Amino acid sequence: MKHKSISQMDLVREAFHYQSRFDGSTMVFKIDFPVTEDPLFPYLMKDLALLAKTGFRVVIVPGAKEWIDSVLGEYGIKSRYAGSTRITSAEAIPFAAMAAFHTAARFMTGLSADAVDAVIGNLVRARGLGVVEGIDMEHTGKVDKILTDSIRRILNLGMVPILPCIGYSPSGKPYNVPSDEIALEASVALGAVKLFIVSVHQGLRGGDYKIPENIELDGQGRIVRLTPQEAEAVLELNSRNGEPDKPLTELCLALKASRSGVERVHLIDGREEGAVLRELFSNLGAGTMVYADEYEAIRSLKTADIPDILRLMEPLMQQGLLVRRNAEDIQEKKADYVVFEVDGSIHACAALHNRGEGQGEIAAVATDPAYTDMGLGRRMVRFLIDRATKQDFRRVFVLTTRTHDWFESLGFKECSVESLPLSRRKNYDQSRNSKIFALDLR
Ligand SMILES: CC(C)(COP(=O)(O)OP(=O)(O)OC[C@H]1O[C@@H](n2cnc3c(N)ncnc32)[C@H](O)[C@@H]1OP(=O)(O)O)[C@@H](O)C(=O)NCCC(=O)NCCS
Repeated sequence: MKHKSISQMDLVREAFHYQSRFDGSTMVFKIDFPVTEDPLFPYLMKDLALLAKTGFRVVIVPGAKEWIDSVLGEYGIKSRYAGSTRITSAEAIPFAAMAAFHTAARFMTGLSADAVDAVIGNLVRARGLGVVEGIDMEHTGKVDKILTDSIRRILNLGMVPILPCIGYSPSGKPYNVPSDEIALEASVALGAVKLFIVSVHQGLRGGDYKIPENIELDGQGRIVRLTPQEAEAVLELNSRNGEPDKPLTELCLALKASRSGVERVHLIDGREEGAVLRELFSNLGAGTMVYADEYEAIRSLKTADIPDILRLMEPLMQQGLLVRRNAEDIQEKKADYVVFEVDGSIHACAALHNRGEGQGEIAAVATDPAYTDMGLGRRMVRFLIDRATKQDFRRVFVLTTRTHDWFESLGFKECSVESLPLSRRKNYDQSRNSKIFALDLR
């Protein structure tokens, strides 16, 4: 598959679109410790600072697991485990807290470099896990309450709250709480529109996992987006004995967040420059998104969409792939057109015209070049076939010069000009010499 590239102008358009859509919204970033050690970490911090400065409400949850392990190791403190959970003992908790706050400070330093104020706070109330199946979990805790009032006060001052993986009981006892859990609970409690899970792997690649058939991959084999149902199916298909790998653990967290009402959860690679901005400001993104809202849809054309679809069709008309149409032609047949909308932007269109004698013509099928090979064209044609069936057409046909193979792959068969309804036969442009492909609906 070819690599997709979006023109700079399109990128700017998309960026403005998303900026206005998410301005003032809360976004939680759960960032793994190894990301902080990457040479590109300062760039990630620059991007987060930029978001905070431009009106987004950024909350950071630093993961510190690897650094806590390393500090405990350095001070010769042996950890016991209950399954995969490290038991933070009374001896270990001061060191765990030191490592957690040290990690949080790296984020504060990064933001300071871009003149964004940050607050590392005791913003998570925790309680101990207690004795689980006979094992005393000591200072290993869970989230009792996210202190949303305090976090909102910090956000209202234009500052970035940083939530280390240490929570405190009402009596001030510290607990080590998994940062995944803090990120999940904070996203839900704050009504975040997005949770970013930032780590150091290449994300979910279709080739690495068993995936359901209908899931679309981008040119590099990345799973671009999943509904919660699809995420669940991926997790089920890949559930083996033993621990799931890191991307699947993150997908599990994303699914939990999505099921708890976080509209969009993004899995991204923190080592990729600009990944957060691309994921945020372009439809194609840079990672994998689990989304629970109406992210994409095929819908009828509105008058306001006409400039967008003309922009989409213009290069294809110039190449002779599509018959030339202007705004008036489209307006006149507006009800025949459908568009494929991805997050409020139009990326494909198609039309079904009634040509009489029980026949419908599928025409003006066009996909934005940056969004081809993702199933948009196929889904639109299937949508129109469905519409034609509901309108009781007996056949749909298409006139095409260079796309007959594609229609053939959708079940269309070549036929003669004589098979066309009379109205269309009369207008058949001999000079264009289009091939005719049709699909019987009965
Ligand atoms: C043809 C077109 C609508 C396909 O859009 P799309 O959104 O990329 O379609 P899909 O993602 O559903 O299908 C892509 C698949 O079809 C294949 N394909 C694309 N154009 C093709 C063509 N002209 N002939 C044969 N196969 C083609 C792709 O290689 C891809 O194959 P894959 O799934 O094995 O990777 C788009 O390429 C386009 O806008 N073309 C120019 C306009 C045009 O010719 N319209 C038809 C005249 S009405």
